[in-house]
Amino acid sequence: MDIGIDKIGFYSPNVYVDMEKLAEARDVEPAKYTIGIGQERMAIAPLHQDSVSLAANAALSILDEDDKEKIDFVLFGSESGVDHSKSGAVWVHQLTGINKEARSVELKQACYGATAGIKMAMGHIALNPESKVLVLGTDIAKYGVKTGGEPTQGAGAVAMVLSSNPRLLSLDNDSAALTKDISDFWRPLYSDYAFVDGKFSNQAYLDFLNDVWVNYQEKTGRTLKDFEAMTFHVPYTKMGKKAILAMTENEEESERDRLMEYYQSSIYYNKQVGNIYTGSLYLSLLSLLEQGPELEAGSRIGLFSYGSGAVGEFFSGTLKADYKNYLSKDKHESLLNERRELSISEYEEMLQQSLPKDGADIEIESEDMKEGTVYLTGVKEHIRQYVKK
Ligand code: CAA
Repeated sequence: MDIGIDKIGFYSPNVYVDMEKLAEARDVEPAKYTIGIGQERMAIAPLHQDSVSLAANAALSILDEDDKEKIDFVLFGSESGVDHSKSGAVWVHQLTGINKEARSVELKQACYGATAGIKMAMGHIALNPESKVLVLGTDIAKYGVKTGGEPTQGAGAVAMVLSSNPRLLSLDNDSAALTKDISDFWRPLYSDYAFVDGKFSNQAYLDFLNDVWVNYQEKTGRTLKDFEAMTFHVPYTKMGKKAILAMTENEEESERDRLMEYYQSSIYYNKQVGNIYTGSLYLSLLSLLEQGPELEAGSRIGLFSYGSGAVGEFFSGTLKADYKNYLSKDKHESLLNERRELSISEYEEMLQQSLPKDGADIEIESEDMKEGTVYLTGVKEHIRQYVKK
């Protein structure tokens, strides 16, 4: 049965920080952030955009009436969820007008959550071929002002509709996964900010990639030559480059060059947005599809998902004919080009804002609320209040 990604879209807040200016403010050479880390702009989430509203905005950008009627599962992958009990999926379900008979669940395993959603969606559709599943990867990456992770923050969401006979990418059912209990990156319940062992996290990412890639090749008999392009979880775009260098270490130079060329297209959006944790791999896939050259039907794309803590998975898919007709390149470029630049002091203030920790009521006021379809207006009697324009 042919199961895969039928639609994909994304949303990111309308404010950003310029990485060269951030580097200057931190007394660091700008080239460290733009070349060494590989980021140009970093999306910042104002208080009125949380993981729920970001996901709802991403979903609303792709859903039509047929989707809303046929979606019977909403899977919300996130590591910046807003409630210990209620899933973000329930709010997204309501805000997007999906039929009431759908199920709604949140999935958490660091940046791996949306991939778990994809695997679950594939199994569900195999049993229910008429179903559609909405898979969301939505996050706000926060390490804090003047921390080592500061240039690798970001905010945004990717929404995907999975179905049988998809129009974009058919997914293969032969992936390789790995779980190991390690402490490379985590966020305790009491902290707004992630804790990270930066260098160890880079190494863990590459070790997981090596393990699952070797395992995948053994299981499937496929090699690098069977792939037109590779996409990766991109916490910062240099990490994807490190991944390609590791995968092609013993390959001919032409193989490496081919993958590097597609890698440039696959990081176009990530460079402008920063890390969106669960959504980063899928933002990179979207970037490849929209910003890369038109690839032949049947071209195989590799996907490496990594969620610290840690779970990794390598899987693959093949492109459908005319997939370019079902994308929204212009819309996504405008979304990023029409953002407002924050000064460094505005950014620092915005990053440190949070809802009252004692649960006091709050009404959020902001000029930037005019952007986006869905946003948070405040908290009343401990209940988040969302508005859809
Ligand atoms: N010009 C060009 N390049 C320069 C430069 C300059 N002037 N100055 C430094 N660089 C290069 C360095 O050589 C280095 O390159 P390599 O990585 O290729 O060696 C790069 O810039 C970064 O320099 P440092 O290693 O000195 O940077 P750092 O100590 O500030 O740490 C970091 C970088 C570890 C990524 C840190 O930002 C961090 O902890 N980020 C968060 C953790 C993270 O993203 N981990 C990724 C794997 S875990 C994961 O993927 C899950 C997730 O989403 C978090």
